[in-house]
Amino acid sequence: MTSPITTTEAGPARAIPELAENFTWGVATSAYQIEGATEADGRTPSIWDTFCRVPGAVANAENGDTACEHYRRMPEDVELIAGLGVDAYRFSLAWPRIQPGGRGPANARGLAFYDRLVDTLLARGITPWATLYHWDLPQELEDAGGWPARDTAYRFAEYAELTYRALGDRVTHWTTLNEPWCSAMLGYHEGVHAPGRRDFGDALHAVHHLLLGHGLAAERMRAAAAEDARQLSLGIVLNLGHGSPASDSPADLAAARRADGLGTRLYLDALVHGRYPADLLAELPRRGVTLPVRDGDLATIAAPLDLLGVNYYTSHRFAGTDEHGAETDEHGLPVVRMVPFGRPRTAMDWEIVPSGLTELLLRLQREYGLPMVITENGAAFDDRVAPDGTVPDADRTAYLAGHLAAVARARAAGADVRGYFAWSLFDNFEWAYGYDKRFGIVRVDYDTQRRTVKDSGAWYRDTVRLTRGE
Ligand code: FCB
Repeated sequence: MTSPITTTEAGPARAIPELAENFTWGVATSAYQIEGATEADGRTPSIWDTFCRVPGAVANAENGDTACEHYRRMPEDVELIAGLGVDAYRFSLAWPRIQPGGRGPANARGLAFYDRLVDTLLARGITPWATLYHWDLPQELEDAGGWPARDTAYRFAEYAELTYRALGDRVTHWTTLNEPWCSAMLGYHEGVHAPGRRDFGDALHAVHHLLLGHGLAAERMRAAAAEDARQLSLGIVLNLGHGSPASDSPADLAAARRADGLGTRLYLDALVHGRYPADLLAELPRRGVTLPVRDGDLATIAAPLDLLGVNYYTSHRFAGTDEHGAETDEHGLPVVRMVPFGRPRTAMDWEIVPSGLTELLLRLQREYGLPMVITENGAAFDDRVAPDGTVPDADRTAYLAGHLAAVARARAAGADVRGYFAWSLFDNFEWAYGYDKRFGIVRVDYDTQRRTVKDSGAWYRDTVRLTRGE
């Protein structure tokens, strides 16, 4: 399914003047994708440990047991990050390490790993950016109902506070959830991510409880920060794209609007404006769903945000008719069909649409007005290792260059974008795709655990340096 790009328009690294000031450059990872050591120091299984054991769930029956062995190799990995010359490192904290089983007191041995990570980063002048939840829900909480159950939101807030109290003296930049859309929709509706359930109603309940968990966590973290007069920058990370109608026909316009409701406004309208989108709410009963909203929930969800983390990979066009022109499906529901742009694709089969990032950032600025950071952007390609051991990944470099240019354009046009984190520092466990899809700007040889900075990594390092005027 992949159609690799064989040429690069990136050219040699050069300064990007629009990104020269007040801009944080970083690289990103997440716990389950790189750490390995899933049984070390009291960690208990997460939903991903369980899901990986389901036959057929993950490509090649792979799992995160070993991954990049980051848990063991952390000091040398931090050296590598330092070598890239970035300002910041975005990582996630594994809930089942810090609070095994998802409730009760902190596990000192699990926390100690993040303590060391944070101290090692700070000693090298790298600012830690911590994400509290990047999909590794403790299995016990899934057994008790998972995100469709309201109690999970309260459990998350408790974990967030406990973690923040332990690390918040040194970590100022926090985001609560990574991509709640993926947790809810891929995990509980499509069943392609852990925990692998397939129920639209469960997924919508999960959305509400994820957002509620975010809001409750924010409240408790702000309170803890105030007690100790700590500085705290608090945000949430969403996966977003720029959705457009395939044509000006009313059906296509309606389809794009519907897709936007479920993909973007469901989250941001609640987080920023304290309400769920009326058009979506009106449609949900037709799909047999009502959101389990209680009094006060939306005020909690709309807790002040310092920052919106934007993960951007691709954009989509939508048609409101199927291939035969029908506007409703077999259940009588309106058709929302993705229509390709016909652009080159990455190894994930995702179309490469940098202009969508510019349009997205300007739209977010207009409609939501929050300071933004690109918390993930990057691409998987089928890398080759050259005979001299280098990884000449011109396609990935072109992808990064194109998207950084898109950020620069958005910034020049008034979008308040304050940073960019390349996804990913390493090739790693790409969820249901296992280790097949390589997103790293650093290659990981899984037989030897050897790390090699790819050409794109060197290009990124040079771009950061030149943009800073060094
Ligand atoms: C995002 C995830 C990240 C990685 C990239 C490719 O949805 O946050 O962990 O899988 O996609």
